[in-house]
Amino acid sequence: MNLALLFLVFVVRGLPPPPNGRIVLLDPIAESRRIKIAFGSCFGRSGRENDIFDSVLRYSPHLWAWIGDFTYADRRILPTIWVASSMREAEAMYNFTKQNRAYRGFEAKHTVVGVWDDHDYGCNNGDKRFEKKAEMKQMFLDYIGEPMGTERRLNRSGVYADYEVSLAGELGVRMILLDVRYNSDPDSGDVLGEEQWAWLDRVLGETKDDLYLIASGIQILPVDGMPFFEHWSSSSRARLLSTIRRHSKSGIVLLSGDVHFAQLYRSFDDPAGIGYPLYELCSSGMTHTCATDVPFCSTFLRHLAPSSYAVTQPFDGLNFGTVEIYPGERKSDSVIKFQVRNYDGKVVQEYELTYGELEFAQKPQATMMMFNRTTLHFVHNLIDKVIVQRDTVGYFSLLGLVFAAAIILAPAVHVAIKVFASCCLFPRVTRLALGTHRSSA
Ligand SMILES: [Fe+2]
Repeated sequence: MNLALLFLVFVVRGLPPPPNGRIVLLDPIAESRRIKIAFGSCFGRSGRENDIFDSVLRYSPHLWAWIGDFTYADRRILPTIWVASSMREAEAMYNFTKQNRAYRGFEAKHTVVGVWDDHDYGCNNGDKRFEKKAEMKQMFLDYIGEPMGTERRLNRSGVYADYEVSLAGELGVRMILLDVRYNSDPDSGDVLGEEQWAWLDRVLGETKDDLYLIASGIQILPVDGMPFFEHWSSSSRARLLSTIRRHSKSGIVLLSGDVHFAQLYRSFDDPAGIGYPLYELCSSGMTHTCATDVPFCSTFLRHLAPSSYAVTQPFDGLNFGTVEIYPGERKSDSVIKFQVRNYDGKVVQEYELTYGELEFAQKPQATMMMFNRTTLHFVHNLIDKVIVQRDTVGYFSLLGLVFAAAIILAPAVHVAIKVFASCCLFPRVTRLALGTHRSSA
């Protein structure tokens, strides 16, 4: 390695990246021509362990991405009730992560980017109505290492950003970090806001990368797990999928966090109409997971709230996620590995596929599957509205739905009882119940 290359390696890997920066990896030989991207979420004081970044450092990814809850800047006053902190308290919590010994050691040597979710936004399940969002944005960007005077700092309504990562120009990877808080509108269900939608449209339209890692704090695909987990609304999800389809993009992969366990999901039908399945790798819980609060959490999730999108079982140990890309002779032979790593950095779940399996091919959509998914999503959202948001309109909608179902089903139930009456065990009683009994007198 000559001196100039050594200098560039030091500069690129030792400093925070520029906004929308190009992160060119310069040491492909040392890394066996492998791109390593790592991400994680949910780093909080409530955790029993907080040296997990020692393992991330040993793994030594080319890029680390926070996918939400860099810290818990709001305050929990009861098991499920959170209140916003003062700016001073929020800053103290940001310092908790920033000054963590292991994180400091990791951050000094690696490129770190990130986007927030609700707790580092400062408001549990927060949305565009959070009044401290502009101040919190500056705090988040300070702590994530965003340079001063960038477009992200000055001109964006939120903290969304994208980064290009490439292996000496052979295989382009773009990391897109979506802000699902700053302009999220609970009334319309819009998760991103028009400004961010337009930006995303531009990024997908103007770039020609091979693999697109689209990260969101909350889950996008698995809408049928636990009803009280936050996830994208059906309208925003449909809009994201149609944006992907409009740009005929290959190699889209989703990343998410938030739920305090890790799991790989996949769309088994083709909701985006792009001819290949969408995968979503969720990693959540670097210092605490659902098992911290609920014993046997993964067993509970597996048996009582399984998701039809699940590829792997939920992993409820402390974890971070990794995506490894091995460029092949031909692009379609390149191998992509989705991995979940535990507190020690050991791979506990791995799923491997070739790039060829993520290549765009517009095919007719599975209409019936789409219908089922849409119906499921609608009912799920309604239950969410009632249980989570305590929404009055939700209550009346659900009542209306039950009432409509009763009216629609009433004739069928009546016929079923009649059939039962004519041939089964208690014809006399059933005829009485239907009022069809005639007295013999
Ligand atoms: Fe969290």
